[in-house]
Amino acid sequence: MCGIIAYVGDRDVQPVLLDGLSRLEYRGYDSAGIAVHSGNGIRIQKRAGRIAELAKAVVKSPLHSTSGISHTRWATHGEPTDTNAHPHLDQSGRIALVHNGVVENYQTIKQALTEKGHVFHSATDTEVLAHLVGEHYDKLSSLQGANRLVAAIKAALSEIDGTYGIAVIHQDLPNLVVGARRGSPLVLGIGEKEQFLSSDAAALSPYTQKVIYLKDFDIVTLQPGKFDIQTIGEREVSYEIKELDFKPEAAEKGKFAHYMLKEIFEQPTAIKNAMRGRLDKETGTAHLGGLNLTNEQLRDIRRIIVLGCGTALYSGMVGEQMIETTAHLPVETDFSSEFRYRNTPLENDTLFFVVSQSGETADTLGALREAQRKGHRVLGICNNVGSTIARESDGGVYMHAGPEIGVAATKSFVSQTTIFALLSLKLGRMRYLSAANGHEIIHALEQLPAQVEAILAQSDYIKKIAEKYAASQSMLFFGRQGNYPIALEGALKMKEITYIHAEGYPSSELKHGVIALIDKKTPSVVIAPHDSLYDKNMNSIQEIKARCGPVICLTTNGNKEIDSNADDVIKIPQTLELLQPILNVVPLQLLAYHTAVALGRDIDKPRNLAKSVTVE
Ligand code: AGP
Ligand code: GLU
Repeated sequence: MCGIIAYVGDRDVQPVLLDGLSRLEYRGYDSAGIAVHSGNGIRIQKRAGRIAELAKAVVKSPLHSTSGISHTRWATHGEPTDTNAHPHLDQSGRIALVHNGVVENYQTIKQALTEKGHVFHSATDTEVLAHLVGEHYDKLSSLQGANRLVAAIKAALSEIDGTYGIAVIHQDLPNLVVGARRGSPLVLGIGEKEQFLSSDAAALSPYTQKVIYLKDFDIVTLQPGKFDIQTIGEREVSYEIKELDFKPEAAEKGKFAHYMLKEIFEQPTAIKNAMRGRLDKETGTAHLGGLNLTNEQLRDIRRIIVLGCGTALYSGMVGEQMIETTAHLPVETDFSSEFRYRNTPLENDTLFFVVSQSGETADTLGALREAQRKGHRVLGICNNVGSTIARESDGGVYMHAGPEIGVAATKSFVSQTTIFALLSLKLGRMRYLSAANGHEIIHALEQLPAQVEAILAQSDYIKKIAEKYAASQSMLFFGRQGNYPIALEGALKMKEITYIHAEGYPSSELKHGVIALIDKKTPSVVIAPHDSLYDKNMNSIQEIKARCGPVICLTTNGNKEIDSNADDVIKIPQTLELLQPILNVVPLQLLAYHTAVALGRDIDKPRNLAKSVTVE
């Protein structure tokens, strides 16, 4: 969601900023803008819409400079218009500021500044922050240069409630950018004679491999050959220079039409990477060193709570079924956003997992902090190395799925569910699973990548089914037990990239209300592998057919009976009931993808959505 790129150095800043912004595009945005130091003041270009619009504007009127700030906005306060786009200027027009996040008390501050004569041009909370910085700057006339700007920013930030990642320039201070963060990610990129700021380390990889992940309340000053980090408040300054382990080509689309398709096809590798070095074939268990817990500590856990949002939460729901089955441990899942504001009764021996591909989701970070505040250990399951959630959790498991650019999460889901399978194996082997049970699960896990390949080989077949139903107004997804979250995930993928209304339900709930929606124009996708509830799912299919509802059945190879009972059938390899959800999600991703292609949707940048939701 939204992004910042800033630069000081010896290059022409305009192409650096435009290139950086385009690397942040996948995060989701609705407008973009640039401000640079020019010989006579600050020059700004900003446009609602895609970065291509901004690029057109700067081609007409280039912004030559060697330092500047830029932004992709995901509107929270005020519509996505040219005026509301960032950067915003202060009252004097000498300070320009870009901001990710939300200033919650902006109305009170705006009122106070208006009474002092400030005039605002936009509807944003950000413009208020720019004016507040300017107000303090004017008062701090005893200070000089960078110190004055830093002091003004510190003073302004200490007055606001809410979250921010910001980058600021002053017209009289060329080759100087100041950044600060609280709740929104910001990474400093260190070059030879140049420095970068970015919301996302990946966007820096073509320029430098040396980065510092800034912490909340850090304030950083960037100048061509140097940087300086201070803190706002009491905390001591501490930072670590990290080497990026990131190949720029990993974020390219290659031969695929969309990132989402590429990432769907990367799933066999994502599963292998999630398992690499973690399977212990000798003792039939899994090794997850990053948990930072001894076997004794793991043995003492009595309850697990898994928190996440969207797809990440659904992976936790699959994990819930897995861990309950193998380890007989009570597991609950909750929306991060709900947990953080509810007073859930918690016992001492409760262990938390937070799941987040980006590691920056504001609600999940808030939930993590709430659980820690209550004295609990929180482990993270993250993809983005060095992300805030990965850093703040007490341990965890990295997905190693590589960059996920498509807004609709795909490979991160199979990666997360594979990690939950490993966890359930480990926790199970400490409790109820025999070595033989453990070996059976390991054997099945090792088959998964090839089984996913076999499903991907059916992409063209699934495309035909997608085209047949693409004109539907609404779609229903049904599955039971571990496949209920898969129904939710299938419906979420369909909604996100096709804009077709879709809902996921346990098939058992059909009779309790949703059956009212069944008619010949509303297709139902029923997940019915050959498992312990197969017959129950068949009953549900009959109930849908009896009301003339078209049925697309997802089942396992060898099921012949279904051919005469469903309108369309997708058959996939069978694995253990415990692991079957990991395979079942793949055809549903392809179904959503091909439906979106048939409808001509903007698949990698669906409307209104952001890849990483860094505001509440
Ligand atoms: C997935 O397709 C969605 N775009 C969304 O639900 C996403 O999974 C959610 O916002 C959580 O993101 P995270 O994994 O980065 O925390
Ligand atoms: N709240 C600010 C706005 O609406 C910033 C949004 C963002 O993070 O892009 O302009």
